[in-house]
Amino acid sequence: MTETLFTNISQLVTPAPGVQRGTAMRDLTVIPDAAMLVSDGVIRWVGPRAEAPGTAQEHDLGGVAVVPGLIDPHTHAVWAGDRLADFEARVQGVPYEEILARGGGIRSSMRATGAASVEELVTLARPRLEALRASGATTLEVKSGYGMDFDAERRMLQTVRALQAEFGLVPTLLIHVPPTGGRAEYMQAVCHDLIPGMAREGLATAVDVFTEREAFTVDETRAILQAAKAHGLQTKLHADQFHAIGGTELACELSALSVDHLEASGPAQIAALAASDTVATILPGVTLHLGLPAAPGRALIDAGAAVAVGTDLNPGSSPVFSTQLALALAVRLCRLTPAEALTASTVNAAAALGLSDRGALAPGQRADFLALHSPDWRDLPYTLGTNPVRTVFVGGTRL
Ligand code: NIG
Ligand code: FE
Repeated sequence: MTETLFTNISQLVTPAPGVQRGTAMRDLTVIPDAAMLVSDGVIRWVGPRAEAPGTAQEHDLGGVAVVPGLIDPHTHAVWAGDRLADFEARVQGVPYEEILARGGGIRSSMRATGAASVEELVTLARPRLEALRASGATTLEVKSGYGMDFDAERRMLQTVRALQAEFGLVPTLLIHVPPTGGRAEYMQAVCHDLIPGMAREGLATAVDVFTEREAFTVDETRAILQAAKAHGLQTKLHADQFHAIGGTELACELSALSVDHLEASGPAQIAALAASDTVATILPGVTLHLGLPAAPGRALIDAGAAVAVGTDLNPGSSPVFSTQLALALAVRLCRLTPAEALTASTVNAAAALGLSDRGALAPGQRADFLALHSPDWRDLPYTLGTNPVRTVFVGGTRL
């Protein structure tokens, strides 16, 4: 067994392992002049350098701060085509939902993605995942949802599978946009063919639904989530992005892993999340790019909810190719403290994916960590527009 002692760490900064709720999200451990012992990809010991156990191999990190690898719990990193014309129209005043209702927006990404092969999609997705990883993401969720038909959804998830080991991907089947006709038949096929097939092939570990006026109703969402559960898959939702139509309450009732977006959430949805085990995932890149209201991150934490942060990287609502930037925007736009934002991007993001073996620098956790350029970890939430992450380590190995 090769052991490595990482030394010359100005500060080792971490939340406690496991999901953190409410103001406990602020309780970071900060160890000055620290060291960390790793073997077989797992953290064995962390503490002050002066108390480190003796070991054969040392790795000097150069006097900088070390934090856990970030976890991005919400991306749509696989797509073809672009949304540059939508972007120009939107900044001149055409609303996102109106572009979608006219057959553009998500539907235009579906046409382009549906026409692409797995090989083409892998080529398109790889540099996006490289950018997210360079920004500090050591585990990333990636959704389907731009498939025109079930074969195209399958190709998207095969793309995720092809890149899974290289980037630490967690695959989610997203039921995104209903067909313009034959809705009842589509619902039957999703619940009786698509979900069981994806579960059988192991191509997805969770099912997500876009619950919204222009997408799926609460009743349809319930049927889809129940089918997912019946086939052993986890559940999550896109809800309250434009209108709070009841998706959040449903997700909490069904113990979904997470509800994501929440820009239109009010006191009832905040109370439901605070009273449940469902993680509230906020996506501040959407607020920035669409000029939407921000999700009530501050109110969610003050009410006692567990909040996570993700990029929502996608071509239409969040062209944010940095998980660190999402963390930094959560501080500015959703009023998280820097410490809360680190917890939201690490252990709580892991919980939003049903994972508890990562996100903290503590014995027994995966040795996924970041060496920053700075000796002060607060440069991570502070920095905008350049990358404060110097080196990414996955399972104790430098990438
Ligand atoms: O998370 N709102 C629904 N889905 C995505 C956007 C996808 C797109 O615009 O292409 C989201 O915002
Ligand atoms: Fe999304």
